[in-house]
Amino acid sequence: MPIIKVENLSKTFDALTAVDNVSFEVDEGTIFGFLGPNGAGKTTTINILCTLLSPTSGKASIAGHDCVKEPSEVRKAIGIVFQDTTLDKDLTAYENLMLHAYLYDVKRNEMKSRIDDALYFVGLYERRDDLVKKFSGGMKRRLEVARGIIHRPRVLFLDEPTLGLDPQTRANLWEFIVGLPKKHNVTIFMTTHYMEEAEVCDSIAIIDKGKIIASGTPEELKKTIGGDVIYIRTSDNEKARSEIEKLFGLEVSEKDNELFLTTLKGDACIPEIIKAIGEKVLSVRLQRPTLNDVFLKMTGKQIREINGSSDDTIREAVRAYRRRHS
Ligand SMILES: Nc1ncnc2c1ncn2[C@@H]1O[C@H](COP(=O)(O)OP(=O)(O)O)[C@@H](O)[C@H]1O
Ligand SMILES: [Mg+2]
Repeated sequence: MPIIKVENLSKTFDALTAVDNVSFEVDEGTIFGFLGPNGAGKTTTINILCTLLSPTSGKASIAGHDCVKEPSEVRKAIGIVFQDTTLDKDLTAYENLMLHAYLYDVKRNEMKSRIDDALYFVGLYERRDDLVKKFSGGMKRRLEVARGIIHRPRVLFLDEPTLGLDPQTRANLWEFIVGLPKKHNVTIFMTTHYMEEAEVCDSIAIIDKGKIIASGTPEELKKTIGGDVIYIRTSDNEKARSEIEKLFGLEVSEKDNELFLTTLKGDACIPEIIKAIGEKVLSVRLQRPTLNDVFLKMTGKQIREINGSSDDTIREAVRAYRRRHS
């Protein structure tokens, strides 16, 4: 049974169709990534699912409750971390969580232990009595995640949770997020325009201009690229290119003085290529397809790249986390 079900959902603002006939399902206890560039329709979709906005047409339900017909049931089942921070900066971390616990009718005798647990979970217990205005961006985000799980929601929405954070902080935040489904028995619905972050998701839908253009597991999506990309620098690109094309029947392209080709078994292919054009080779590198490549292939454009390469930092942090917790 999917915990989130969306069928032919659309939302128009005047002449603009922000969400265009979107359908998808999310299984309970998984991390679902809703990816797309700025303006794609991610927040609008979240707002409909969270009952903050009514759809123009189509249907959405969470935990079996219709988002339009049973909004209060839906609200009880969800937690939200908004794109922009909604913490009260003049309250302490503890007070922010307490306020939320009151709003959600958390039982008085459970309140303290739930808040303490949540603060421990995000590593802010020691800072519980500090005013939020003294917190860094990463700490605020972690506090918002803590707040989002206080009332034990079945689905937690995270809208661009890592936006504006530095790579190390992003990696740390991902550690928490990846641990949430098991520790807190919650399904995660997250949006991001950082494609590499979506590697941690169990399933993904890519949205562009209001339409879902691809969906599946990260592995399935990357398979659509058709293999690994081999990059080769040679002393004579023209000659090397024609030799590789002739010998292997592969199409070779050139960009920035570097040859590149896509092939299914890149690692096995490299020795063959070196054997064939050995004396001309200056350098070779192999790149596995990324979700950025998927986006590029589907839309013909590059999603806004983050500055520097923090992909590896994040992937390594997530891998380390999984090793520790498996
Ligand atoms: N309340 C609104 N009124 C008019 N247009 C809106 C409104 N909210 C969003 N939009 C437009 O809908 C499109 C999708 O926005 P949004 O869902 O916020 O995208 P994303 O979260 O993927 O960046 C954008 O073109 C945005 O300008
Ligand atoms: Mg948004």
